[in-house]
Amino acid sequence: MTTTARYPALTFRQDYFADGAAWTAFVSLLQDTFGIDIDPLQRLGGPDPSCMPFGWFDADGTLVASLAAFALPLTINGRKLRAAAFQSGAVRPAWRGRGLYRDVTLKALEWCKAEGFEAIVLYTDKPALYEPYGFHSLPLHLYIGAAPAPRAPTVSQSLDPWQPGDLALLQRALRTRTPVSDCLAVCESAAMFLINTQFDPDVRLSWMEGEQAVIAWKMDGERFILLDVVAPAIPALAAILGGLDVQPDVAEVRFRPDKIAWSGEPQPLDGATRFMIKADFPVTLDTPAMLSPMADF
Ligand SMILES: CC(C)(COP(=O)(O)OP(=O)(O)OC[C@H]1O[C@@H](n2cnc3c(N)ncnc32)[C@H](O)[C@@H]1OP(=O)(O)O)[C@@H](O)C(=O)NCCC(=O)NCCS
Repeated sequence: MTTTARYPALTFRQDYFADGAAWTAFVSLLQDTFGIDIDPLQRLGGPDPSCMPFGWFDADGTLVASLAAFALPLTINGRKLRAAAFQSGAVRPAWRGRGLYRDVTLKALEWCKAEGFEAIVLYTDKPALYEPYGFHSLPLHLYIGAAPAPRAPTVSQSLDPWQPGDLALLQRALRTRTPVSDCLAVCESAAMFLINTQFDPDVRLSWMEGEQAVIAWKMDGERFILLDVVAPAIPALAAILGGLDVQPDVAEVRFRPDKIAWSGEPQPLDGATRFMIKADFPVTLDTPAMLSPMADF
């Protein structure tokens, strides 16, 4: 814990997740700022073990300024990148405009440098906040096209992360997964996958025993939306449709479909959120791609 003359009423802490009160203060800041509840993560295996939170707390133990960094190994353009990610960046309204976010950003950048990460990625709707530090945006694209005819139906079962047996199966699959795409994908990131199952009630998880694959998917009318595949080898889309026993007209795939024996048309992802990267070397995407929404952080 440290204090400085600049913020005499505040105390700086990092790596504080093991302290229950500080974790609760962190959950509360994210709830108040973004309207999301990440507390269920504690019962879904806990935060990413590499996560390093940086924060300024007031005398009552309220977290007023936060940024966290965690290891997020990525595959980009066929190359494995030892990347870190920034998340949970927020400052309470009463404390904004005093340099607190710049302070936690500089601390997080310093930590990433000391840890030897090759790159840092983040999502933001305020790219101007990060451009001064050398971050630039990468365009994101999903893929849409006619769905293939499903292969002969095979057996699949629904998974519920709140069932201990299903959670253990999911955690095992996440530990041994291969990236869902060679163009842009996470290599692991179990904690984010598990908490992301809680944010969209339409997301379904299915286990295809034969393929040893977890499929994250949803339906939008007749459109089948494939969000992620967690498996040691990625099955073809036709096999996935057969396994789920669905026969949609249209498929939408929220990652570059280079491993699922199907092609669609790339379409820019809607919305104000940008995906940014900072690396010591130029990074652009060789082909249109996006990170699976199950990796959102
Ligand atoms: C964005 C936010 C974190 C800024 O916090 P802050 O403590 O007021 O920021 P600071 O005072 O440290 O300002 C740091 C720099 O960012 C700039 N900045 C502040 N808010 C900004 C914004 N909305 N857009 C672009 N730049 C911004 C400041 O001008 C300052 O620039 P300088 O270093 O050149 O002087 C805060 O407004 C917030 O929590 N907003 C809601 C949540 C959010 O958007 N989080 C970021 C998610 S990626």
